[in-house]
Amino acid sequence: MPRVKVPVEWQVATDERFRRIVAHGSAWALPELAHSVHVEVNGLAPDREWFYRFRYRNDISPVGRTRTTPALYKSGGALAFAFASCQDWASGYYPSYRHMADDDLDLVVHLGDYVYEGGIPADGGYRKTSTPDVLRKAPQDLERWRMQYALFKSDLDLQAAHARFPWLVTWDDHEVKNDYAGTQQEHAGDITELRAAAYQAWYEHQPVRLRSHIYRRMRWGRLAQLDILDGRQYRSVPPCGWGEADACTGGYAPDVTMLGFPQEKWLFDGFAASAARWNIVGSNVMVGRLDHDGASGNRLWHDAWDGYPAARKRLTDAWVNHRVSNPVVVTGDWHSTFVNDIHRDFDRPGSPVVATEFVGTSISSNGDGEVYGPYYGPMIKYNPHIKFFDGDRRGYFRCTVRNDQMTADLQIVSTVSRRDAPESTFASFVVESGKPGAVKA
Ligand SMILES: [Fe+2]
Repeated sequence: MPRVKVPVEWQVATDERFRRIVAHGSAWALPELAHSVHVEVNGLAPDREWFYRFRYRNDISPVGRTRTTPALYKSGGALAFAFASCQDWASGYYPSYRHMADDDLDLVVHLGDYVYEGGIPADGGYRKTSTPDVLRKAPQDLERWRMQYALFKSDLDLQAAHARFPWLVTWDDHEVKNDYAGTQQEHAGDITELRAAAYQAWYEHQPVRLRSHIYRRMRWGRLAQLDILDGRQYRSVPPCGWGEADACTGGYAPDVTMLGFPQEKWLFDGFAASAARWNIVGSNVMVGRLDHDGASGNRLWHDAWDGYPAARKRLTDAWVNHRVSNPVVVTGDWHSTFVNDIHRDFDRPGSPVVATEFVGTSISSNGDGEVYGPYYGPMIKYNPHIKFFDGDRRGYFRCTVRNDQMTADLQIVSTVSRRDAPESTFASFVVESGKPGAVKA
């Protein structure tokens, strides 16, 4: 594109063929924002589907479908959503998105690692498809970050899933740099400049509002409230050390934060005000404990909430103190599936179970390799609150929320070496309203 602003027209219609257009307008696509446009459409009726498209001169975009949430006072009904994370382009194709796009969902929730920060191999890695030389080096500046999004978004199945459903997105570490915390990273030190370029490219390429925090709240009538968290931008440097390390007293200091205190207040105020039957939190990293070595020690993974026990205790206390109805966490990051009981205090294993957590595996990251099963599998016996674990399969969770129960189907693809790999339901879980903890169906 030339470095000039161009007007992009948009339309919203009740039908796929745009016979009844209910809203339309024009937005400037600016070169300083990679000619992206973010259109906010107000006044649409609740609880139905809509179709939208864009036009610049004679070029008309493919048609997108979206839907509005039910009215705030509306009870009952159902919410069907998939949640996904971790889609390293060079680690494989995205057959899961192909299956999702054929499904009948209300929403896709993406919990981060939408792109990865590395250079792209000449042969496209697992994809065995040649890629331009300009992608070889890891992104450092804005121009190169934009190319990373252009590459990842060139995937046709990802495009189909975006066109078919509205998405709620947050980010994790790989949108910037492995395991970073705030503006710091273990090896690179201060990453403020890299982060600013990466964040801008993220904003340009994601379906988010013109102005907002990354964290956001969506109410699905009175059936469900979804609070999508930003667990990267404001977190403390892990107080006991980066990555795999021993627990330490520093993790319990009151100033230790995962969300930053303004976001934490927003979250807890939202809990206090919630009239929803189900209160779902979207977290980039795992809330439940994963004790690595049982009675012999206290080795943990400090990039997840295990590195921030003071912050986790405030979260579990908030669920209890505000009498939050049916708290459920849906999580990304680990390229593994976990189904967890969340105890109010993981340092007192007898403390009550206060919430349920589903950790989804990856769309493509780790490819078809058996990587985490052999490593984390033997640790699960030290963690009786972990009701299910799988470390080696690719896919996502498909969830249905109704008044009386929430179901979660673990959808697994046979391989990520092909776009058309078949999908099957590997396991299903149910959470009954009023009874935290998932049960295998
Ligand atoms: Fe990841």
